[in-house]
Amino acid sequence: MRTDDFKFLIECAIKAPSGHNTQPWKFENIETGIIIHPDFRRALPVVDSDNYELYISLGCALENLLIAATQKDYMCKVRYPENATNSIIIDITKDDVSNVKFDILFNEIAKRQVTKCKYNDKPLSDDVLKQLGSCFNFEGVSLHILNSKKNFEKIIPLIIEANNLQFENKDFLNELVYWIRFSKNEAEKMKDGIWSATMGMPGLGRFIGSLVMKNFITAKSEEKRLIDLLEHTQGLAIFISDTNNAEDWVKTGQAFQRFGLTATCLGVSHAHLNMPCEEITVRQKLTKDLGIENKHPLLLIRYGYAEEMPYSYRRSLKDVI
Ligand SMILES: Cc1cc2nc3c(=O)[nH]c(=O)nc-3n(C[C@H](O)[C@H](O)[C@H](O)COP(=O)(O)O)c2cc1C
Repeated sequence: MRTDDFKFLIECAIKAPSGHNTQPWKFENIETGIIIHPDFRRALPVVDSDNYELYISLGCALENLLIAATQKDYMCKVRYPENATNSIIIDITKDDVSNVKFDILFNEIAKRQVTKCKYNDKPLSDDVLKQLGSCFNFEGVSLHILNSKKNFEKIIPLIIEANNLQFENKDFLNELVYWIRFSKNEAEKMKDGIWSATMGMPGLGRFIGSLVMKNFITAKSEEKRLIDLLEHTQGLAIFISDTNNAEDWVKTGQAFQRFGLTATCLGVSHAHLNMPCEEITVRQKLTKDLGIENKHPLLLIRYGYAEEMPYSYRRSLKDVI
């Protein structure tokens, strides 16, 4: 593949979301296509001890890459090597223009964001919901939409329970603080992590920011914030995988990425409330409540309408190739 096409595809891939914006990926240009490698130096051992969110993030990057390839008339075939826990191989061939169908979600790749603020009270129309509910088709991955407060009320105690488990865990807080970028300067310099402005927080700088996070943000204060967010949430979307292995985590990421891009196209905002999926004891209760025993709820997403927030940074190509 020509170097400029390779770079174009990777530019699009890295605009994908990732847990704590760790960007846990590396890309290799090989004769027959591209390999996406997990970068375990950027793992989150506390909040994501089995790396399932890391693989979901790779799936998001993969889907962006596949969508961008349609813009350049490339045909792609995804395969996983024997040891599926390692990398994703994309075989790429240039094809006759007429055979490649341009994916219109390409137009949303740069505009998409995870919007972490409070949403307004405008409901989604049935048509918008229908489009969100049918935005992907991956075998083994399904979407459960709980539209309206009445439908998702039963999930709220699980969100709070998992939030309490996390904020009472010092290691969780230390890992989170490590990945927060407490000023524009820090975010620009590191080009990764969660920039405080994307959460609507003032730029306090690392010293004061960590002090505030470690001394004033408690399970109780977070609970209050979450209840407020949920008051202003139009619905919850839960991504469910039939199996719990690396290949299906990647597929879940691909499905979530199509959801995020479709939502962007429809002007709908979305953000994670992932704690009940991350805390395994709570995930088991969620599975039971949803009546999906033997399946795996991996992502919990709130949605609604909101103003755009500042965009997160990305590392440069030379850091990921
Ligand atoms: C697998 C995964 C898990 C995530 N979990 C959370 C979460 O629990 N809470 C949250 O606010 N954002 C979560 N995010 C969103 C990321 O923080 C966000 O994608 C990242 O900061 C980059 O921002 P952007 O997507 O707006 O570019 C998650 C994203 C992914 C892909």
